[in-house]
Amino acid sequence: MEHKEANSRKIKLLVNNVAREDTVPVDLRLADYLRDWLNLKSVKEGCGVGDCGACTVLLDGKAVVSCIIMAVEADGSSIVTLEGLAAEGKMSDLQEAFLAKGAVQCGFCTPGMIMTAAGLLAENPQPTAEEIKRAVAGNLCRCTGYQKIIEAVLYTAEIRNQKD
Ligand code: FES
Ligand code: FES
Repeated sequence: MEHKEANSRKIKLLVNNVAREDTVPVDLRLADYLRDWLNLKSVKEGCGVGDCGACTVLLDGKAVVSCIIMAVEADGSSIVTLEGLAAEGKMSDLQEAFLAKGAVQCGFCTPGMIMTAAGLLAENPQPTAEEIKRAVAGNLCRCTGYQKIIEAVLYTAEIRNQKD
């Protein structure tokens, strides 16, 4: 997609392992770039000011809130959204665990929650319940009371460790 305004800049990045090159307005938020330009609808907008975690994605492997990052700031990076976790349409073990443990109710928080959990597990493959609780504290969920979410992440870690 091309935008010819003066305040636009070309960015190159990998999104869900696909190389992208777009000329974007400098004030386009990463969340809007992913959702509106690339049609990655798992990226939800809740608060829009970095407080709810609904827009969480992985940026170079780290969970970040994409509503307070500009797309131009992501130039040169690798982004993963929930769509990128489900290879060839098959859910990842983490997504399966969220379903198996009943960690999903209305689901609005779920994509961001799963991306936060994915970032945590990449950094710390055997987190404690307390560490998971701290990691997801920035992802607001009104439905589940967090216990089942914590169980789902613990369960994923356990299954992965059994495979190692
Ligand atoms: S929409 Fe990004 S943190 Fe709430
Ligand atoms: S499942 Fe509804 S907000 Fe978390």
